[in-house]
Amino acid sequence: MDVALRIALLLVLLVILVVGVVVGLAHIISALIADAPYVPTRSSVLRAIINELSLTDQSVVYDLGCGDARLLLEAVHLHPHIRAVGVEIGPVPYWLGKWRTRKHKNIQLLRKNIFSTDVSKATHIYLYLFPHVIKKLMPSILEQCAPGTIIASCDFEVAGREPFKVVELPNDGAKLSKRLLLYRV
Ligand SMILES: C[S@@+](CC[C@H](N)C(=O)[O-])C[C@H]1O[C@@H](n2cnc3c(N)ncnc32)[C@H](O)[C@@H]1O
Repeated sequence: MDVALRIALLLVLLVILVVGVVVGLAHIISALIADAPYVPTRSSVLRAIINELSLTDQSVVYDLGCGDARLLLEAVHLHPHIRAVGVEIGPVPYWLGKWRTRKHKNIQLLRKNIFSTDVSKATHIYLYLFPHVIKKLMPSILEQCAPGTIIASCDFEVAGREPFKVVELPNDGAKLSKRLLLYRV
């Protein structure tokens, strides 16, 4: 094999290795600092979730632990005049979300801990988090948010509160993102 070709192949392998190590490390860092893993909501149920939120042009949608911001992207796709805010602590999902939302001025992504985030402007809050994380988060949501604010939780219940609606999401045999529970502050 030609020497130049060997060097080129070696460089490609090196780049793949470096990218793999960086992504792997970022995932390990995320797992260490986040309170829930990066498991995105299934793409096929996003539209159904947004439709359940009954958004208007005045809506301000928060996704606490927004991952790659897919829920917010679908929300502004269906309702271009809303404002959307995503909060994400993991470096990989955060930067992925930043890239994916770069053309949307009405989506703001914050690299923050959800427990130290001001949610007082939210009209709708989307959660795809573990029940114990939701439980820890609820006091600050209830303290900050105006009565009537909608909390939409994917799959998991909000302990101690009655949902006003439970929606079975379109299911193609998937084990996750199966239902949406809607609560009102
Ligand atoms: C199950 S994923 C849901 C992602 C996104 N909401 C979706 O539905 O596609 C949970 C996300 O919350 C993030 N997260 C977990 N704990 C967090 C915290 N304390 N502050 C901010 N983000 C957090 C994780 O990094 C992860 O991306």
